[in-house]
Parts: sequence; structure tokens; C-alpha cells
Amino acid sequence: MNKTLRKAVIAGNWKMNKTPAEAKELLEAIAPLVKDADCDVVACVPYVDLSVALETTAGSNIRIGAENCHWEASGAYTGEISAPMLKAVGVDYVIIGHSERRTYFGETDVTVNKRVRAALDNGLTVILCVGEYLEQREQGITDEIVAMQTKVALQGVSEAELKRIIVAYEPVWAIGTGKTATAEQANEVCAMIRRTVAGLYNAQAADGLTIQYGGSMNAKNAEELLDQPDVDGGLIGGASLKPEDFAAIVKAASR
Ligand code: 13P
Repeated sequence: MNKTLRKAVIAGNWKMNKTPAEAKELLEAIAPLVKDADCDVVACVPYVDLSVALETTAGSNIRIGAENCHWEASGAYTGEISAPMLKAVGVDYVIIGHSERRTYFGETDVTVNKRVRAALDNGLTVILCVGEYLEQREQGITDEIVAMQTKVALQGVSEAELKRIIVAYEPVWAIGTGKTATAEQANEVCAMIRRTVAGLYNAQAADGLTIQYGGSMNAKNAEELLDQPDVDGGLIGGASLKPEDFAAIVKAASR
């Protein structure tokens, strides 16, 4: 496995935080701190912040993403946003299957797969989230759960399309809890995801897949996590709202 084959990607997931004015301010603070990054830098922001985020980051190395998208192009789905809508405003990335969507909004592996398909069909790059609950880890079924989430989400995704997929391994028990998976735990599951993808496609496709870790990644622990052979980046929640912390993580990924 050769880490140099893969692009390191640090993505912020702002979740339900920041008004458009606050988004502008935050991105203006982040941009100069990450301008020399030797990795891809993405900010995934609330829908209402997308336009201002795209304007504020135009000409910079920060790419903008959304936090979800619907699987249909249009229709009677009150409150939803479609992939063609995201593409139309100029968005490049979309997070799909975040555990908060799965836990609070009834997202399933099947709907995750449908949303992945819609995003790919509309030219977006997907940050596909997978990860186990604490009870599942304690029961020793982490690998089965995460492999299943990965396989169902990638159903019908071609090898060429896989190049527009980033997998984010986010153990649910580590999200927003301050409890990070150890670097070894993170790497073990990321390596297992890569083996699963090798089984679905082939070793070359799996070697090229960027796999992020997410869950209480911060300025202090980023370097150790990102040093792991199968951890190619991070999906950052809380720390992505703090310019210096986010920039420190970007720096750790740029070495
Ligand atoms: P925290 O970094 O706040 O734990 O959130 C991680 C996450 O859910 C990113 O998608």
C-alpha cells in the first residue's frame, strides 16, 4: 500500500453552525492560514452558506461542499436539496451518510447509496461517511458493520466513479465527544475499508482511494492520526470552526 498514491484531503464539516455573515468571516480567517497547503482543503457548510462560501473562497485553494443531498433531481420533497441544485450553485463536494443523518433523520445504507448515485451522476465528489456505534465496537462487530455500510453505499458505483469518492471513517462514539479513536484503531478500520474496496474493485482502485478519519480530530492529535499508513486525511467537526486549529490540521496533512 503506497500512501503517496493518494491525495490527502482535510475537510471541515461545519454541521448546523454559522450564518452566512459568520461563514464569510470564518472563511476569511481560514483562507490565509491554509493557502500553502500541500493537501486538498474543503469546507462543507450549511446550504444557506454555500453561495457566500463560494464567493468568499473564489480564487483560493479552499473547495466548498454541502452536508447532504437528496437522491431525486426535483420533486415533492419538502425541505430537501438535490444534487443538480448543488452543482448549479458551483459546489464540488457533498458529505453523504454522516452518522448524524443516520441517527437523527433515518438515513439508511440504502438511501445513502441512492444519494451517492445522485451526487456522482451530477459530477460531485462524495465524502461517504461510515462508522460503528460504541455498542457495536464493544460487541466486536465493527468490521462487519463498516464493511456492510461501505459495500451497500458503493453498490452500482463504477471503478471510474470511485475516483470521486472519499470515504470518511467516523466511529460514532468519537464524534463530538472528545474521545478520539487511537491512531491504531483508526488505521485498523481504514485499512479494513481499503481491503473491502479492493475486494469490490481491485487493489489498484483501493490503493488510490482517499480514506479520512473523523471524530474529535484536533490540532493536537492530527499528526499522529495522519501519520498512519491508511489514514489519508480528516473530516473535522468542532475544530473546523476554529481557524488556527483547522489550519494546524491542514499543516499536519501537508507534510
Ligand atoms: P468532531 O470533530 O466535532 O468530533 O466531529 C466529527 C464529525 O462528525 C465530522 O463529520
